[in-house]
Amino acid sequence: MSTRPTAGPRRTVRALLALGIAKFEAADISYGHGTTNALDEAAWLILHALGLPPGELAAHLDTPVTQERHRAAVALLDRRVRTRKPAAYLLHEAWLGTCRFYVDERVIVPRSFIAELFIPKSTTPKRGQVTFPPGWSPISLLDLCTGSGCLAIVAAFNFPRARVDAADLSEDALAVARRNVAAYRLEGRVRLLRSDLFGSLRGRAYDLIVANPPYVKAAAIRRLPPEYRAEPEMALASGADGLDHTRAILAQARAHLNPGGLLVVEIGHNRKALEKAFPKLAFRWPRTSAGAGYVFTLTRDSLPRS
Ligand SMILES: C[S@@+](CC[C@H](N)C(=O)[O-])C[C@H]1O[C@@H](n2cnc3c(N)ncnc32)[C@H](O)[C@@H]1O
Repeated sequence: MSTRPTAGPRRTVRALLALGIAKFEAADISYGHGTTNALDEAAWLILHALGLPPGELAAHLDTPVTQERHRAAVALLDRRVRTRKPAAYLLHEAWLGTCRFYVDERVIVPRSFIAELFIPKSTTPKRGQVTFPPGWSPISLLDLCTGSGCLAIVAAFNFPRARVDAADLSEDALAVARRNVAAYRLEGRVRLLRSDLFGSLRGRAYDLIVANPPYVKAAAIRRLPPEYRAEPEMALASGADGLDHTRAILAQARAHLNPGGLLVVEIGHNRKALEKAFPKLAFRWPRTSAGAGYVFTLTRDSLPRS
């Protein structure tokens, strides 16, 4: 007489994924903090809970999961639904390309399109990449509104000879940035500064200034889903038309750029309003994964004198 093994519950990554997607769709959660859909969001949380490397979903779909790990993964999926916090805050990590950053609710979750000018998707940071003029190697850089320090760090990787100033008005953000700069051992090249835009940078000039300032309109701030309201409001809000910070940057940037220098600014959905407000400025709009129109560049010579 043969005894057949009794089938226990099938606990696999695939089954967890289906569960996560069902939970997220039923709760109608919002995305946009590192992922854009239920599948990717669930995969990120599940792989993390199981201690598996991110991006290795396919290889592990049918891997059996222990009861303990299964419970931990389900608890994390439930926490995402219950708290409506972005996965990045629950896991204390965010990714730009292959660069990982520590994050918590003191900073906005990194997702700037400017990073794509430095790191093409899915490759390790290398020098001299993308959109900047070939062979151009700025040696002084400013990351204005640095938040977690993410853009200062990817810029420092891209331009290994450069010294980078990374400025933010928020002490909380600077504390997080300090942790990230230390994790990448860049303390010798990336200097963190508290500054209200260019306020504490008098007399300093750079070859390249990048800025991902707040740019959400007042009316849109009031309609943000909970995931976005979990982020610091000062990282998002920029007056009635979302352009208060950008206007101030445009007014002062020329004085802080060296001859031949370049300004790179992210502005979200505000291209039309910006071009209407500054019809004489020769904006260039490099293509990012969102399309052209989210990030502009201006040379020093095309910026207004302050
Ligand atoms: C959209 S977040 C960008 C953060 C980071 N650069 C990134 O791409 O993830 C804007 C940042 O600007 C900072 N900020 C807001 N007002 C500022 C000001 N007047 N001067 C300097 N930084 C400011 C916020 O604290 C926040 O960290």
